[in-house]
Amino acid sequence: MSEDLKTFVEGLESLALECEARKGQACSLKELEDLRVEFLGRKGKLAANMATLAKLPNELKPEAGRTANEVKNRITELIDGWQADLVAAEAAEKLSRFDPSMPGRKPWAGSLHPVTLVMDEICDILTGLGFEHASGPEVENDWHNFEALNIPPEHPARDMQDTLYVSENIVLRTHTSPMQVRSMLGRKPPVAVIAPGKVYRRDSDLTHTPMFHQIEGLLVDKGVSMADLRGTLTAFVRQLFGTGTEVRFRPSFFPFTEPSAEVDISCVMCAGKGQNKDGSTCRVCKGTGWVEILGCGMVDPNVFKSVGYDPEEFTGFAFGLGIERVAMLKYGIGDLRMFFENDVRFLEQFA
Ligand code: DAH
Repeated sequence: MSEDLKTFVEGLESLALECEARKGQACSLKELEDLRVEFLGRKGKLAANMATLAKLPNELKPEAGRTANEVKNRITELIDGWQADLVAAEAAEKLSRFDPSMPGRKPWAGSLHPVTLVMDEICDILTGLGFEHASGPEVENDWHNFEALNIPPEHPARDMQDTLYVSENIVLRTHTSPMQVRSMLGRKPPVAVIAPGKVYRRDSDLTHTPMFHQIEGLLVDKGVSMADLRGTLTAFVRQLFGTGTEVRFRPSFFPFTEPSAEVDISCVMCAGKGQNKDGSTCRVCKGTGWVEILGCGMVDPNVFKSVGYDPEEFTGFAFGLGIERVAMLKYGIGDLRMFFENDVRFLEQFA
């Protein structure tokens, strides 16, 4: 072999040995990449050697080229091998940090809002008693919301303070009672409907929000009496709050019912005792042992006239209750606004 070729080949071989000696020095894929560039890069060590190939006589070039290729392959194989080792080591290291005994993360699951839960429960009880579900508009006209319910124009319930007006004749319904009117207009007796939904009032404090939920109930037929009202509402309240719940009817006034009553139940917090176990006054019933939960009465003949029912032929009862109020009593919640803040820590307790 010519001296020139020998020097060239020896140069290449020492390059391969030099690379071999670097084994274990590249501790990361980044360092290994630097090593690859150092030996095989365009301005790397192998490229520098190859520059001398051009100076060899033509007849030596084929063999010189072959050797150069072999060396290049050797170095490439070396570095590829180390790379595979590094990748495997990194994977093994990751796996060693994985603790299969660690409990998994629970996927976060949504749940029904407490107002929805109570609404559903109330609807279930009342449909179980034979009432049919009805729904109607939240944007209501004056006639359905007031006039047809025997609430004349000068009645205090229409006060600008309470009612949210859309225009002179259009309001956001202030109660679900207009559904009594709509239900009767759309049906012939016997009528037995419940109408749950949102209602709106200009009111905001600890126990009032501008939007809240009510459910309306209406039963109209021949010979419906106050005894039916009492029996139905007592059965309803006992299913909702428990069989031991005491119920009392207090005379009251509503324009659309005559006579009217408010229903109180024995306080759910202190079981009607008026005081807590430690002798302090119960804050829910304020010591009276009773909490009010709904308004009701016998449908006023004037309401029947509004919808074209003959008050001589038919009688009926109606009732309305606030859903949030029931939810507060059922779950012992002191501030109405919690229902609308949508704090997940509050809501997920009802899951
Ligand atoms: N609409 C009344 C309110 O919002 C509640 C009510 C009372 C509804 C008596 C009735 C009823 O159907 O008979 O305060």
